[in-house]
Amino acid sequence: MAATATAGAAVRSAAAPPPRQYKLAPQSELRVEVLPDAPLRVRLVAGTTEIFGTELPPEGLVPVPPRSKIAIFTWHGATVELDGVSESEYTSDETPMVIYVNAHAILDARRAGARVAAVQGGDLEASQGPRVIVVGPTDSGKSTLCKMLLSWAAKLGWKPTYVDLDIGQGSITIPGCISATPIEKPIDIVDGIPLEMPLVYFYGHPNPSINADAYKVLMKELAKTLEKQFSGNAESRAAGMVINTMGWVEGLGYELLLNAIDTFKANVVLVLGQEKLWKMLKDAKPNIDVVKLHKSEGVVLRNSKYRQRTRSFRIKEYFYGIANDLAPHSNIVNFSDVSVYRIGGGHQAPRSALPIGAEPVADPTRLVAVNISTDMVHTVLAVSYAKEPDEIISSNVAGFIHVTDVDIQRKKLTYIAPCPGDLPSRLLIASSLTWYEA
Ligand SMILES: Nc1ncnc2c1ncn2[C@@H]1O[C@H](COP(=O)(O)OP(=O)(O)O)[C@@H](O)[C@H]1O
Ligand SMILES: [Mg+2]
Repeated sequence: MAATATAGAAVRSAAAPPPRQYKLAPQSELRVEVLPDAPLRVRLVAGTTEIFGTELPPEGLVPVPPRSKIAIFTWHGATVELDGVSESEYTSDETPMVIYVNAHAILDARRAGARVAAVQGGDLEASQGPRVIVVGPTDSGKSTLCKMLLSWAAKLGWKPTYVDLDIGQGSITIPGCISATPIEKPIDIVDGIPLEMPLVYFYGHPNPSINADAYKVLMKELAKTLEKQFSGNAESRAAGMVINTMGWVEGLGYELLLNAIDTFKANVVLVLGQEKLWKMLKDAKPNIDVVKLHKSEGVVLRNSKYRQRTRSFRIKEYFYGIANDLAPHSNIVNFSDVSVYRIGGGHQAPRSALPIGAEPVADPTRLVAVNISTDMVHTVLAVSYAKEPDEIISSNVAGFIHVTDVDIQRKKLTYIAPCPGDLPSRLLIASSLTWYEA
């Protein structure tokens, strides 16, 4: 492995280094970490390369989004040029890409089989393409593998559905959500996952243990909606799903993985980087394919503080755009114009009020009306598509607002939203997700 690294801190204060070229051997990659505030651009000089499954265009400088950690991989050899400062950059010829692309080839054959079955009038089972769920501990490269599988499939003309169950580091929308969206072309290097029509269900916390039952119910609702969409669309049914998951694989985390496999009727489980998890899932799910894949050494480890910061950035990006190029709209509503609900909880009945031996349980999916208070300032509220409060848990959300001020005296709530005008609904869902403008 050849390695040249630049220490970010040392370079940051110095002037930007001149553009430099890397000649990459076949099946090797250039790994780059981008700083939060210094632009970095990449240009293909010769050959062909891809970033997580999406080909780099043959001409022009491509801006790499701030804070991203990427690998510029080549199958047949290439020369690339980097322009700007980076946190680190080095090349490696040890990658699991051949194994990953082989997995893709097997999935592709299944999609083709499903399409043939659909044309021949086969049953729903035969015409169902692969439903792949990618599991593994944190920082094993799950989100990255999902991107590659989706982009490779889209490049061949499939429109697979991307399902993201990771409420901590989700890649479709803000944290605290589970969501799905069709991927119709390779994922854009700059813009990321397309956001035209995501189907989003709001859980409201970055951690599933806060209300695991609600998390399960929301998965069920999302799966139900997708099932309905698939039944009327043979093409997306054959393309199947790629399901991304959280890195929590022990205890309740493991139980939720099993639940996700069942709920979405996954028929292929790809396990990254953990032998034990692979063995457990293989034993637990003998009737589906549970496949162990190597983790890439290029995957960058991120500590919990970094994750927390990423969550904050995701919320900011929702309102201000990835490149800080959007301007959110500020608006004021009267308390009486909106109703805010929280999913689950409510006050538990005191033990003394229960029959002897009974345990107090708060209904995890009950909708509890919450009073608007100054505690809500800096938090995110979801705007539900529900028509009635009791439909909130089974409804997806239109989008999010960020509370910037609560005036108790005048009974007014000030918020920012990505678009101007009235809210599409008066039913809002409270959350524990916060973002501080400073
Ligand atoms: N081969 C690679 N080279 C450089 N960075 C990588 C590589 N593979 C993944 N990464 C980066 O490592 C980080 C963690 O990977 P990710 O796929 O998000 O892990 P997980 O979803 O399992 O937590 C991401 O920022 C990703 O872009
Ligand atoms: Mg991930």
